[in-house]
Amino acid sequence: MTGKILCKTGADLVNATDPELVKFIGEIYYGLFRGGKIRQCGLGGRRSKFTRFFLISLSLSCQSAHHLQFPTHVSSDSVTKGLQDKLNTQGLVLGVYSSEKDGGAAQFTSAGDAFDTLVSGKLRELLTLCGPPLKKGKTRIFHGLHQDFPSVVVVGLGKKNAGVNDQENWNEGKENIRAAIAVGCRQIQDLEIPCVEVDPCGDAQSAAEGAVLGLHEYNELKQKKKPIVTPQLHGSAESKAWQKGVTYAEGQNLARYLMEAPANYITPIKFAEQIEQKLRSFSNVKVHIRPESWITTEQMGAFLSVAKGSAEPPIFLEIHYLGAANTNDSPLVFVGKGVTFDSGGISLKPSSGMDAMRADMGGAATVCSAIVTAAALNLPLNIIGLAPLCENMPSGKANKPGDVVRAKNGKTIQVDNTDAEGRLLLADALCYAHNFNARAIVNAATLTGAMDVALGSAATGVFTNSSWLWTHLYEASILTGDRVWRMPLFEHYTKQVTDCPLADVSNVGKYSRAGGACTAAAFLKEFVTAPHWAHLDIAGVMSNKDEVPYLRKGMAGRPTRTLVEFAARLSRDSHNAK
Ligand code: BES
Ligand code: ZN
Ligand code: ZN
Repeated sequence: MTGKILCKTGADLVNATDPELVKFIGEIYYGLFRGGKIRQCGLGGRRSKFTRFFLISLSLSCQSAHHLQFPTHVSSDSVTKGLQDKLNTQGLVLGVYSSEKDGGAAQFTSAGDAFDTLVSGKLRELLTLCGPPLKKGKTRIFHGLHQDFPSVVVVGLGKKNAGVNDQENWNEGKENIRAAIAVGCRQIQDLEIPCVEVDPCGDAQSAAEGAVLGLHEYNELKQKKKPIVTPQLHGSAESKAWQKGVTYAEGQNLARYLMEAPANYITPIKFAEQIEQKLRSFSNVKVHIRPESWITTEQMGAFLSVAKGSAEPPIFLEIHYLGAANTNDSPLVFVGKGVTFDSGGISLKPSSGMDAMRADMGGAATVCSAIVTAAALNLPLNIIGLAPLCENMPSGKANKPGDVVRAKNGKTIQVDNTDAEGRLLLADALCYAHNFNARAIVNAATLTGAMDVALGSAATGVFTNSSWLWTHLYEASILTGDRVWRMPLFEHYTKQVTDCPLADVSNVGKYSRAGGACTAAAFLKEFVTAPHWAHLDIAGVMSNKDEVPYLRKGMAGRPTRTLVEFAARLSRDSHNAK
C-alpha cells in the first residue's frame, strides 16, 4: 500500500510504502515539529524499499495528530496510534496560588501565566469552569491544551506570600511547593507519561525536591514496576537551583533505598559496597571497608559483642571526603548506626512489625548518603563518615542479658537488654571519632522507640552539648522542612545509666522506660569528650505513612537533606571554625 502524509498546509512530506512505515514516519514527524529542523532518518531493520529519507521542517501549522490528513486509501489508524503514543510523552505541572480573597481569580506563577498566554487564556478559562478555587495540594488535569504538553496538571500552592512559619519551625512556602509538585508529578505518573516538565514556582530547588522525592518508590524487586517518569525544569531560568534540588532529593532517595531494601539484600558488606560504588567516581573520596579483624584490633568490644550473635560478619565503614581547599582542615565527622537487622537479640522483639527493623541502619544510610550528596555538590569542607555495620540476632553466640563488655575507651558496659544494641555500636564508633580532631561530631541513629513516643515523626530529636552546633542544625532544618527539636542531656539521666551493679555503665536506664530517648543519649555522652557533639535520634522519623505529603509510604531517609544543608552551612562558616 502506498500513501502520503500531508500536513494541513498541504505540504508533501514524504512518500510512504506501507502502514508500518507510515506509522514510523508519523512518530518521527511528531519529533520533528517538537524541535528539529531537517532530519535525515534511517529506517534500521524495518522492511522497506526506503532506507533513508529526509524530513524537512516547514513552518508548520499542525497542532496535533488530528491535523494530519491521509489519502482515503491509507488507513490512518496505525498513524494516529503511533502518533498518539508520542503525543502522550510529555506532561506539564504548573502551580497556582490560592487567591487573596474568597472567590477571587486564581493567581498563576510566572510559568503558569506564560502558559496561559500561550494558549490564549484557555487555562484560566478552564480552571474557572471546572470547580471551586484550587486548595493547597489539590489538582486539576487538562488535556489537549497545547501540542507540546498534551496533559497539564495544575496544583494548588496555597498562599503566595508563605515564608518561614515560626510556630511550625519551617519555611511553609518551600514545603507547599514540595508537596504540590510531588502530587502533580504523581498524577503524570498515573497517566503513564514518561516525561514531565515542572514549574519552578519561584523556588526551583524546592520544586525539584518535590518532584524527585515525590516520584521515588522502591520497586527494585517487583517484576511489574511503576512507569518511570523523568522530571525536568520547565523553562531555562533557575537551572542551577533545580539541579541542586535534584541532588539533595537523590541523596535522600539513596537513604530511602538502602533503608527500604530487605535485610537479606542489604547486609553489612552489601551496604558498604553500595556506598563505595556511589563514591567511586570522586577522586577526593577514600572509602575503607574495615573487616572484623580490624574491628578487633581497634578493641571495639561493645560493637563486636553485638555482631558476634549473627552469621553475617560485621563491617566498619570509614569514608574520607576531602572537599576543603586544605586537606588538613579539621573535618566534620558523621557517625551512623548501621544495624542492618535488629531482631532484638536474646531480648527478642515481638514478631509483629519486626520487618521494619531492616531500616535500623537508617543512621548509617542517612549520614553516608549525606556524604555522597556533599561530594556531588563538591562542598568545600572535609567530612569523615563512620558506620559500624552488623546484625543484632539471637544465637548461641549472642549477648545475654547481664553480660559485661568493654568498649574502646576501656569503659565496661552491662548489657541489661540486648535490644539496646545501637548504643553499643555507637559507643565504640564515637570513641574512634575522637581520632580526627573533628570540628564537630554528629551521629544519627534509629536509637529508641521512646523517641517515636516523644515526638512521633514531626522532628528528629537532637541531644547536643553545643549550642553552636544546635543553631546550625536547627537553621538548616527550617530550610529543608525536615525538622529537628532539641532534647535534654541532663545529669539527671546520666545518673540513671551510671548507677550500674556490675559495670561502669548500663545499656538501659534504671527506670527502664521513663525518658528512654534521654537515657540512651546520656549513655552515649559517656563516650564523648569532644566539645561539639550532637546525637540525632531518628527512630521517630524512620518511616512515613502519610505525614510528609511529598514522601510515599515507606522508609523516609530523613533527615538526609538536613544533614547536607548543615554541612553546606558549616562549609560557609569555615572562618569561624569551632
Ligand atoms: N532499633 C531500636 C529502636 C527503634 C524502635 C527504632 C522503633 C525505630 C523504631 C533499638 O535498638 C531498640 O530496640 N531500643 C529499645 C531500647 C530499650 C530496650 C531500652 C527500645 O526502644 O525499645
Ligand atoms: Zn534494638
Ligand atoms: Zn536497634
